[in-house]
Amino acid sequence: QVAAASGHTVVLVDQSDEILKKSTKGIEESLKRVIKKKFADKPEAGAEFVEKTLKNLTTSTDAVAVVHSTDLVIEAIVENQEVKNELFKRLDKFAPEYTIFASNTSSLQITQLANSTTRQDRFGGLHFFNPVPMMKLVEVIKTPMTSQKTFESLLDFSKAVGKSPVSCKDTPGFIVNRLLVPYMMEAVRLFERGDASKEDIDVAMKLGAGYPMGPFELLDYVGLDTSKYIVDGWHSLEPDNPLFAPSPLLNKLVEEKKLGRKTGEGFYNYK
Ligand code: 3HC
Repeated sequence: QVAAASGHTVVLVDQSDEILKKSTKGIEESLKRVIKKKFADKPEAGAEFVEKTLKNLTTSTDAVAVVHSTDLVIEAIVENQEVKNELFKRLDKFAPEYTIFASNTSSLQITQLANSTTRQDRFGGLHFFNPVPMMKLVEVIKTPMTSQKTFESLLDFSKAVGKSPVSCKDTPGFIVNRLLVPYMMEAVRLFERGDASKEDIDVAMKLGAGYPMGPFELLDYVGLDTSKYIVDGWHSLEPDNPLFAPSPLLNKLVEEKKLGRKTGEGFYNYK
């Protein structure tokens, strides 16, 4: 959405037409919110912005068929190393030499993903934040193999889509998640110990620390499955780090398919 809105030609690829339809609808809804703010007094300019953005956006279920002419691939599939590696390996065979590959992973090592391809120098991390149309940050990750040219292209792209890039080495959680995820997990542990209610913890962090959402609201917003993937991944890397310890409550909610806003229930009920 943000790439298309900033004039880039985008092909959105997913597994089925049904998912793509849902995604396109989500983008249309989000664009409505964007124009309400950006073009409040100019409805015609707003309508033109939406039309132009949607014109830049097509969809496909066949990544291999569309990768042959793309400058940049941004992968944002399930947080699973093997599945991502398999996708990158396949795309690497069909993408032109010049194509840069980037992953939006929250928790996996960019270096390991790059190693599934033959273009380690043209591979980096581009990590966006929910909700992407609103959050101005992108973390740009340079592995020891990422060329300076690729790194600069990723910084330029981030700016071209209207974001403010920061750079970070290929370390667990990069900057934001390395600080944010342990904080959210500490909130869950505080609640698990019965020291405070989740509602009070959320109010406390909003009113006492000025955060726009409390940790439980944010966990539900990000998705409990995504949060669990991140923690589990780090726990396997550093089993003795108490900040990365798994939470029985988070695990239980994920097992029950209560994944947050997207399923209608997580720590809170949205139905
Ligand atoms: N698309 C377009 N516009 C959107 C939007 C979307 N998806 N979501 C919210 N907005 C707009 C609304 O239209 C609204 O505009 P308005 O001010 O003109 O009415 C504006 O954002 C504010 O929205 P709301 O009034 O609904 O609610 P808030 O004032 O609470 O703002 C928020 C919503 C921007 C999401 C704010 O609560 C916030 O910043 N929350 C914290 C988000 C955060 O921490 N994100 C990082 C998560 S970590 C992550 O993503 C990393 C990953 O790897 C896990």
